[in-house]
Amino acid sequence: MSEALILSETRGRVGLITLNRPKALNALNNDLMDQLGAALLAFEATDEIGAIVITGSEKAFAAGADIGAMKDWSFMDVYKNEYITRNWETIKRVRKPVIAAVAGYALGGGCELAMMCDFIIAADTAKFGQPEIKLGVIPGAGGTQRLPRAVGKAKAMDLCLTGRMMDAAEAERSGLVSRVVAADKMLDEAIEAATIIAGMSLPSAIMAKESINRAYESGLAEGILFERRNFHALFGTDDQKEGMAAFVEKRKPVFRHQ
Ligand code: HXC
Repeated sequence: MSEALILSETRGRVGLITLNRPKALNALNNDLMDQLGAALLAFEATDEIGAIVITGSEKAFAAGADIGAMKDWSFMDVYKNEYITRNWETIKRVRKPVIAAVAGYALGGGCELAMMCDFIIAADTAKFGQPEIKLGVIPGAGGTQRLPRAVGKAKAMDLCLTGRMMDAAEAERSGLVSRVVAADKMLDEAIEAATIIAGMSLPSAIMAKESINRAYESGLAEGILFERRNFHALFGTDDQKEGMAAFVEKRKPVFRHQ
């Protein structure tokens, strides 16, 4: 059996995935990304899970793609065989909400992986950056695209061109992360947020996620229409009946995720 480069466990209705190459600061290689993809799709496939958390170690969420593995690759290796990028977008196939719980370094591909998640909860020790330029390359898994959408052009240019790191406070100020939490509370906070989400109606959570993502991929009028159609569609669910009846009856809803 191949080495476990990720750990996968459940906490109630939350799927928790821990990147597990601590000695290499969770440098992301193809095997790790394959295992991450498989774990994500397994959580996606089960009705028992309503939200997912991806985390790393205390020192690093992930310090980027594995430089040792990449250093001798040729253009044909990466272009024709998609050596590094092939398995990076699996996470975007996951419709359930995914939270990145980031402590320590989230650099290069690590920052990009965090940005592929739906939102980021950061420890006060977190450091974000796209230092690829220092290696003679540029970000390759969405850094030049998702970072400007998150923090604006000026800061994205600054980070991608200088390769400098941004601490958790700056990341929160600039909109990259949704919350900053003391390092020893960060994972609990992320799991708590995921537990709250997993307790909601799953169709609502999926449609909220799809609709917010549409905000980045369409004009306002099209996005509003997309949201409205999803809003209308939710009136076809049992959970809408239950959610609104529970409010009127002053009780907690019991969602059946359908
Ligand atoms: C391979 C890595 C690594 C990486 C750290 N390590 N980052 N190995 N790939 N990206 C390894 C080190 O070689 C070292 O192994 C061990 O992890 C500990 O790292 P140190 O450098 O000794 O730790 P420290 O001095 O604390 O410095 C931490 C650091 C530094 C600032 C994060 O490791 C660093 O700069 N790492 C590279 C960051 C980076 O450039 N990322 C972008 C990669 S390119 P040994 O065996 O010596 O103990 C990329 C492209 C994405 O991500 C493309 C996506 C498709």
